[in-house]
Amino acid sequence: MNKTAQIELIVNGEKYFENVPVRMNLADFLRNKLGLTGTHVGCEHGVCGACTIFLDGVTARSCLTLAVQADETEITTIEGYETDKNASDLIKNFHKRNALQCGYCTPGMLASSIEYIEQGNPPDRKKVKEHISGNYCRCTGYQAIVDAICTTIQERQSR
Ligand code: FES
Ligand code: FES
Repeated sequence: MNKTAQIELIVNGEKYFENVPVRMNLADFLRNKLGLTGTHVGCEHGVCGACTIFLDGVTARSCLTLAVQADETEITTIEGYETDKNASDLIKNFHKRNALQCGYCTPGMLASSIEYIEQGNPPDRKKVKEHISGNYCRCTGYQAIVDAICTTIQERQSR
């Protein structure tokens, strides 16, 4: 039998009350129930990072999180990055530096990059690479992504 549970959470600033199957993962909930298809699903077992979102301000793999575990939490997905200053600067630099091609990894890559910047980390290429090492990109070769992150931090430091 398909058990369901009621959850209440905030996604991108909006409050939702939803009845969800207890086995539904958060990525499927965001995509299929809320229509927030900017969260991508790749490996579905916590390896590729495509599904990375913010859960209570910390990055999380939405393919490894059950929707019921997100009860009473606050989620931010790529659809909610518009109002985030770090995100808008990063997105601008992702474009400028050609840090995306097919864009499949980009929502998750941006989440990890925003987290790196918000933690007050330096524009150090080695540290950036370590931080985004859980996000796979099949297109860019990573150098442009590292450039975009370092440029965003340097721009902020020079303001
Ligand atoms: S889809 Fe979640 S880590 Fe790959
Ligand atoms: S831009 Fe295609 S996978 Fe990263």
